[in-house]
Amino acid sequence: MLSYAEVRVPATSANLGPGFDCLGIALEIWNTVRLEAGSSGVTVSGEGEGSLSLGRDNLVFRAAESLFRAIGKPTPQLSLTCDNAIPLGRGLGSSSAAAVGGLVAANALCENPLTQDEVLALAVEIEGHPDNVTPALLGGCQIVVQDGEELVTSAVPLASDLWAVLYIPSQQMPTQQARGLLGPTVSRADAVFNMGRAALLVNALSTGDVSLLRTATQDRLHQPARGVLFPAMARIIRAALDAGAVGAFLSGAGSTILALTVDREMTVGYEMADMADKAGVPGDVKVTKVSPQGAHVVSEG
Ligand code: HSE
Repeated sequence: MLSYAEVRVPATSANLGPGFDCLGIALEIWNTVRLEAGSSGVTVSGEGEGSLSLGRDNLVFRAAESLFRAIGKPTPQLSLTCDNAIPLGRGLGSSSAAAVGGLVAANALCENPLTQDEVLALAVEIEGHPDNVTPALLGGCQIVVQDGEELVTSAVPLASDLWAVLYIPSQQMPTQQARGLLGPTVSRADAVFNMGRAALLVNALSTGDVSLLRTATQDRLHQPARGVLFPAMARIIRAALDAGAVGAFLSGAGSTILALTVDREMTVGYEMADMADKAGVPGDVKVTKVSPQGAHVVSEG
């Protein structure tokens, strides 16, 4: 076993509009996780400092422990240091990043006994949202579907260099609450609406035909219902599109709104913030990109 491993793990945005529970992208916003053998304690800086647990129930720590369990070894004395840039409860995959970060760091510390597929399966078991976990581990844009016991993933090649402009409300939108708003069934018309758009979206991204993205990022399976918790959502999405974004949607279960742009990224961010301000939704704009890279080791020894 090594004495320490430090990994970076990206934020993610799930659903991308129509791909509810089966599409996600990694973003260039990174948490750092460092595990050291032989000492103990949990430290958190940045996002979640003062609110995330510093005990053994910390999600990153639990993920690390589950790796030791999976390989049949007792968890050694471990100290964990987290430096977080991913805001919590905003639909940017902070809990997936925690699970993936803990697993990848522990796997590196043990000199990689588990394959990437095994790490993925464990991360999904811990966190429960494959559409965030998969891009957090593998990077880029990922399709993920469950086939019986098997998780089938496929990377969507991205033909255009798009900006991801985020409007991140100050208000959190807990995933469980946002999922609780969704009905148990959907109409055939809504299913067809989303299936067509999800297919269109994959084609738009992989061919670079960004003119399709405005239609391809529309959704009827989760955003309208979630609008009850976040009435200004539709107006902020509209403001982004009116300002020149090629597509826009609720990121994961919210509360972040993500707009895709080829240019005018500052204007799009400004107009989203202006609309949010008028609607009484305080928050921040962040301009980022899709990260081709997922979780990776930055140093070990
Ligand atoms: N696809 C999930 C949802 C993502 O929208 O509820 C949760 O992070």
